[in-house]
Amino acid sequence: MTDTLDIQIQKTQKSKLSKVDIDNPEFGKLFSDHMFLADYRDGEWQNLRITPYQHFTISPANATLHYAQSIFEGLKAHKNKDGEILVFRPDANAKRLIKSAERMCMPPVPQELFLEAIDNLVALDKGWVPDKPGTALYIRPFQFADDSFIRVKSSETYKFMVITGPVGGYYSEPVKVKIEKQFTRASKGGVGYAKTAGNYAASLYPAKKANEQGYHQLIWTDGQNHEFIEESGTMNIMFVIDGKLITPPTSDSILPGITRDSALTLARDWGVNVEERPIKVKEVVKAIQNKTLTEAFGIGTAATISHIQTIGYEGEDFELSPIVDREISNKLLDTLTKIKLGKAEDTYGWIRKIG
Ligand code: COI
Repeated sequence: MTDTLDIQIQKTQKSKLSKVDIDNPEFGKLFSDHMFLADYRDGEWQNLRITPYQHFTISPANATLHYAQSIFEGLKAHKNKDGEILVFRPDANAKRLIKSAERMCMPPVPQELFLEAIDNLVALDKGWVPDKPGTALYIRPFQFADDSFIRVKSSETYKFMVITGPVGGYYSEPVKVKIEKQFTRASKGGVGYAKTAGNYAASLYPAKKANEQGYHQLIWTDGQNHEFIEESGTMNIMFVIDGKLITPPTSDSILPGITRDSALTLARDWGVNVEERPIKVKEVVKAIQNKTLTEAFGIGTAATISHIQTIGYEGEDFELSPIVDREISNKLLDTLTKIKLGKAEDTYGWIRKIG
């Protein structure tokens, strides 16, 4: 833990820790005792503080509520066998938040502030890091406009906050997804590459429609002709076709996933033939039909790897190969899990140790 920044710490008098079951948490419902806050005023980040996790007030005219000038990150911490806390690639999240901020016309949160906020908060709530297999402490940094002003303009004031909470798996089973040909998650020139609230809001209605048709989620296609694969649900997507690991290249409509990048790095080092290139929907359907597609999965921080069991396309459902037979995605999941838990060597410098 570092403490070169001046962070005021107010500890809770009433820890909730003894009253909750951190080893069996539902994803996203349970929050640790403390939260981090900083205010952007007069051109600088100030009033850095950790307080008990609590509600706070904002003006009904708060610009974020009206125009969604809001960005976030998601990352995880695990406990190693010595009880030390390991955070996975927080520097990459800090950099991506800065990129999102630029696109959304917000001031950057300096990397040092981002990292120290996490270091201090996670160290204080160390007891909230679960250690049952499949669990983690999810860390949610976020930044939002704080002006009370309903003209459409970028705010002059902002908040940067971090909350954390123990989580279990995002999906409890391999997923059934539908290739979406009507709705669009993000389009060329838009904000798809930024981790901004509106992208997730826009995905809710199409996802609800897919749920009504019996699918867990969607495979997003390009906004122009729905001809190319983009992402899956809230994740990046990868396929194994003819033994090659194939994923769409990042672009202005695709989020540059950190788990995506980690998986590509590992796979390349293992000598897997990796292709980052546009993938046509037709290529995927053909590869399923001629059985050259052997694996398909969503990949992101929340789920790490979410195996796709069934793909729906134009009213037909295609069953993919059994999960146990999926060599590359299972090896990626296993290796990423071991690195995050400190059970495999951190050869890429991805782990930041706390406490
Ligand atoms: C991720 O898995 O990376 C996500 O962003 C999911 C999150 C929105 C819950």
